[in-house]
Amino acid sequence: MNEPVIYELSAPGREGVKLPHLDVPASDLPTELLREELPLPEVSEIDVVRHFLRLSQQNYAIDKGMYPLGSCTMKFNPKINEVTARLPGFTSIHPLQYTNTAQGALYLMYTVQEYLKEVGGFAGVTVQPAAGAQGELAGVLMMHKYHLDRGDTQRDTILVPDSAHGTNPATTSMSGLRVVQIPSDARGNVDLDALQSQICERVVGLMITNPNTLGLFEEQIEAVVKMIHDCGGLVYGDGANMNALMGVMRPGDVGIDVMHFNLHKTFSTPHGGGGPGCGPVGVAEHLVDYLPGPVVTIDLQLSEEDAPFFNFYQPAKSIGPLTGFWGHFGILVRAYTYMRMLGAEGMKEAAEHAVLNANYLRSQVKDVYKVSHDRLCKHEFVAEGHFDAAPDVRALDIAKRLIDHGVHPPTNYFPLIVPEALMIEPTETESKQSIDNYAAILRAIATEATDNPELLHAAPHNTPVRRLDEVSAARDPILRYQHA
Ligand SMILES: Cc1ncc(COP(=O)(O)O)c(C=O)c1O
Repeated sequence: MNEPVIYELSAPGREGVKLPHLDVPASDLPTELLREELPLPEVSEIDVVRHFLRLSQQNYAIDKGMYPLGSCTMKFNPKINEVTARLPGFTSIHPLQYTNTAQGALYLMYTVQEYLKEVGGFAGVTVQPAAGAQGELAGVLMMHKYHLDRGDTQRDTILVPDSAHGTNPATTSMSGLRVVQIPSDARGNVDLDALQSQICERVVGLMITNPNTLGLFEEQIEAVVKMIHDCGGLVYGDGANMNALMGVMRPGDVGIDVMHFNLHKTFSTPHGGGGPGCGPVGVAEHLVDYLPGPVVTIDLQLSEEDAPFFNFYQPAKSIGPLTGFWGHFGILVRAYTYMRMLGAEGMKEAAEHAVLNANYLRSQVKDVYKVSHDRLCKHEFVAEGHFDAAPDVRALDIAKRLIDHGVHPPTNYFPLIVPEALMIEPTETESKQSIDNYAAILRAIATEATDNPELLHAAPHNTPVRRLDEVSAARDPILRYQHA
């Protein structure tokens, strides 16, 4: 980075804040906090503002432009969510407060549970898990405990289609269970013959991502569920992709026994980076007692007519808590706000637009980029980032070149079952103009790939850092700026 950073702007005596008059006795700062080798910068207010604005502009964000990361769903988070999350009544609340002094907060949690029950078609919901993957862990542990309680102790295997999200097999392994992978058929659905060949009394259940990571709806979902139920197993639905289905199809109605939602992918909460987010889990009746608690319920003993009293309870056979206290409440405020702003019709429209936008973009590029399993997709589609006429160009080159064109690359090299995968999810909030712009850029890059492949190999050209060694950047990050 060649631009000046704040320490170089420091000049003795320059100051950027005026502190209020002291209304307490003056005392020195603890000397152990003031280290000679780490001097505090002396800067003016404008130096500070420019420094942080410059840094923020070096980053890319959905607030700047299209960010079509398939599977990671960079959904636009309406700013009203932040207004409600900052209401003093929510921010000043303490987890150890008596529940009779926090009825508004409990009502909000209860209502989120109820809305998610309705959206997913489930009998019970917990908002405990801190992320989607933690919701998966909860679900698999519940499924296993359910079998153990029935004396079905030989069950130790989870079947996972190869089009599942990577967290599904990882969760299974973390739960101490065996993963058996099921291949997809030519249309991108679970291969029913391959599934049948693995059905046995060792099956705890199947974990199915629907729509799957190819962006495709499992066309034979009812047959798949029946095969698993017929052998006594349970079906885990990875509901992270509910952005394509909410208001249109309820997984509980086709027999999914347990499913997590990703509030950041569907209900416009910030990405948690593994937490502190929220991955609520919904279950059918036979698993309600296994939910991780506490769950919010209406306490009939303390309720009065027309005045329900909300309280926490631990389900009878619960697998136990997953997060401290009551989960990540601020996230629930944002999801609640989003659901109330949209209403039932609005949620359905959001899903329909997410699907429409993905299909529109797919139709705009599919004559240039090979599209895996070319059929109507849901909220995302997977293109292949390679061209016959430019054999050295790879998905990575295309992704980096997109940055030069001022937009964010899609997810790449995932799912693993598509060569040179570019997984594109525009989301529902992009306009036709911005999708057309993205399509035009993708098409221009395809032309560049044959005309001037070096341009792609050397991309990105205008970023503060160029092409990084991503492995060492992750393993050996340089986190502190040091002037050369
Ligand atoms: C399909 C799918 N399943 C599971 C997850 C894991 O969720 P999280 O990142 O919240 O742990 C994701 C991540 O976005 C996902 O896209």
